[in-house]
Amino acid sequence: TEITAAMLVGSLRTGSINQRLARAIARYAPDTLRFRWIEMQDMPFYNGDLEVDRPAAVRAFVAAMQEVEAACIVTPEYNRSIPALLKNAIDWGSKPAAENVWRDRVIAMTGASPGGIGTAVGQQHLRQILAIQSATVLPGETYISFKTPDMIAEDGEIADPEVRAFIAGFAARFAALALRMR
Ligand code: FNR
Repeated sequence: TEITAAMLVGSLRTGSINQRLARAIARYAPDTLRFRWIEMQDMPFYNGDLEVDRPAAVRAFVAAMQEVEAACIVTPEYNRSIPALLKNAIDWGSKPAAENVWRDRVIAMTGASPGGIGTAVGQQHLRQILAIQSATVLPGETYISFKTPDMIAEDGEIADPEVRAFIAGFAARFAALALRMR
């Protein structure tokens, strides 16, 4: 009863708080949940002209997504929406419609921001985008207001037991939903 899930992180920045959050989720997830980090940065901007011979990076992304049964999206909020990096990957993955990699996937989302409402508005946008993919999106909202830089260590370790339990709970709910949807 192992679940293999994609880990998709919407920030490429060195020292990204969302990369840290992703590592924390993997660290405190139940043992049954295995993550594969899938990269989105090598895909060019979506262009229908490229559909005749899809770029290798797009083919690699789609192939990797086809091998997982669920996906965890950990992303910053950019201008009250999602980063172009993530939107571009969603767009590529949604075409052609018959091979949409998001359809019927169990998807959990979370994100961190130094701001007070840490990614809540961006997550609403992401939910709207995933609705048309017919993905099964984990209900509820999980966002992290990253008040202190050491809240999550570089390697994903969380010292504060309350924060740790919050992240572990998110991962456990994701795993439970993925199992139920089998
Ligand atoms: C941001 N940031 C931001 N934060 C937020 O809470 N709401 C927002 O709408 C935005 N908008 C935004 C746009 C752009 C272009 C950038 C670069 C940044 C701040 C953002 O949360 C902060 O830079 C995080 O540290 C980004 O996440 P990573 O890269 O640390 O994972």
